[in-house]
Formats: sequence, structure tokens, C-alpha cells
Amino acid sequence: MKKVTIEKARELGFCFGVRRAIKIVENAAREHKHIATFGPIVHNRLVVDRLRGLGVRVVNSLEQIDGETVAIPSHGVPPELLLELRSCGFRVIDTTCPTVRRAQRAAKKLADAGFKVIIFGDSGHPEVKGLLGWAGGGSIATMDAGNIAVDSLGRKLGIVSQTTQSLSGFARFVAGLLTAAGPYTQEVRIINTLCQKTQKRQDAALELARRSDLMIVVGGRNSSNTRQLADVCSLVVETHLVEKADELVPGWFAGKRHIGVTAGASTPEEAIDEVMSRLRSLVGDG
Ligand code: F3S
Repeated sequence: MKKVTIEKARELGFCFGVRRAIKIVENAAREHKHIATFGPIVHNRLVVDRLRGLGVRVVNSLEQIDGETVAIPSHGVPPELLLELRSCGFRVIDTTCPTVRRAQRAAKKLADAGFKVIIFGDSGHPEVKGLLGWAGGGSIATMDAGNIAVDSLGRKLGIVSQTTQSLSGFARFVAGLLTAAGPYTQEVRIINTLCQKTQKRQDAALELARRSDLMIVVGGRNSSNTRQLADVCSLVVETHLVEKADELVPGWFAGKRHIGVTAGASTPEEAIDEVMSRLRSLVGDG
């Protein structure tokens, strides 16, 4: 009988921004008691649960904060919230990823220069909510250029992206927007705010997906970059997103010879290892 091969993507799991955010919060937790993070520090339940064991609690409003120290998550927050936290006297620990910070600065720079800022991204995602704050009043976030009333765009148009979107998606969005907005605008400025780490993970996942009979993507369902990995892989092969090893369904693997595995940027190594070992037990050692 032919052996089943299980192969991990050449780039997967924790990115530098996530490692950095977790390290900052772990160090702070050693120093200060009762740290609150404004929303999950990264989009992975396992990480959040582990940090809870160190006294780090997730809050969603100022009223829920019960200590002195508040951590800003890796995907950032709007500037008004930062100001409010500081003016309330909280000690603020900012773990915003430098790549997200760069996107925030780009949005602000465009807005300050009089551009109407359009953000390619999921308007319900915390990073995009933060970017909207930095881009100022009148800015728009959407995944679909067709949703924008182009006659309201004005003469100067600035375009940025949520950091974890795909390059091909951003390119399609920009092309669609420019085609529609062409007659109404005089000047268009596009700033590439995509995260290169995310792009590298997507490229590696796609390369592996093309050679596999099935892809398993490990990560939080609330993680944008994890969902992007699943979307990219599902374009070429059957793909399943799981948060934990016990979500693997034996029936998925019938007749499959080459199984590819990738993981989102906020997925801890233990979660990937557990999925790999359950896979081996389900399909036989690769
Ligand atoms: Fe930052 Fe990119 Fe990771 S934006 S948090 S390095 S996925």
C-alpha cells in the first residue's frame, strides 16, 4: 500500500509581530498584577487562555478594566481610544505590531494630506476599526469596491489595505475602484500596507496546496490571516480549517496520499504539533 505523506508548509505559525506582542505582555505580567488587554492580544484562544493563567484578562470596554495596566493588542486600536486610556490614568502597554503601526501611519498621512482614505479590509475586524480611526472621518473600509458610491469620493483618493489581506485581492480591489472612480478623481495615492510575513505564508501555503490532495489550516477562526490561508488553499484543493487536533474528521482523509499543513501567524507551535501527531495517528505515519 502506498504511504501517506504529511508535509508542513515551509513558512507557518507565529510571525514576529505575534511573538513580540506575547513577549511584551508576558514580561509585563511578571511586573504588574491584573493586566487587561483591550480585546484578545492575538487572535488565538489557546494563547489567550495561557495568558489568563498569568493574570492577563481580556476586556472590551473601559468599565471592565479592574487594574492599572492595559495592553493594546497586536492589531492596534484607534487613536481616540489610546488617548482616552491615557487620560483616564491607565498605564498603557502598546503591543501594536510594527507593520500595523506602519499602516496606521500611512492612513493618517493620507488623511492629513487631504485624501479620502479607502481601506481594503473587513470593516468588522479590530485592525480595520483601528485603521479607520487613524484615517479620520469620512474614511471607508470595505472588501468590495462595488459597495462604494464613487461620486462621493472627491478629487483625491488614498488607498491602503488591512495588513493581512492577499496581494491578489488588493490588486483586484484597486483595479475595480480605479475603474469605477476614474472620472471623479484627479489624484490617487496607493500605499502598499500589506504584511510581507503574511504574503510569504500565503505563497508557501499555495505552493504546498498545489502539490497536495488535502490541506489542513491550523488556527483561530477569528484570525484574519488564518482565514486568508484557508481561502487561498481552497482555491486549488479541498481545505479544512481547525483550531485544535480533535476537530480533525477521519473521513476527510479517505483516499488522500499527500496532506499539506499550514498555520496562521497567531497559532502556537503546540497546536501545530498536536495536529501533526493526530494526523499521523489517523492516516499512518508519513
Ligand atoms: Fe504583524 Fe504581519 Fe504578524 S501584521 S502581527 S507581522 S501577520
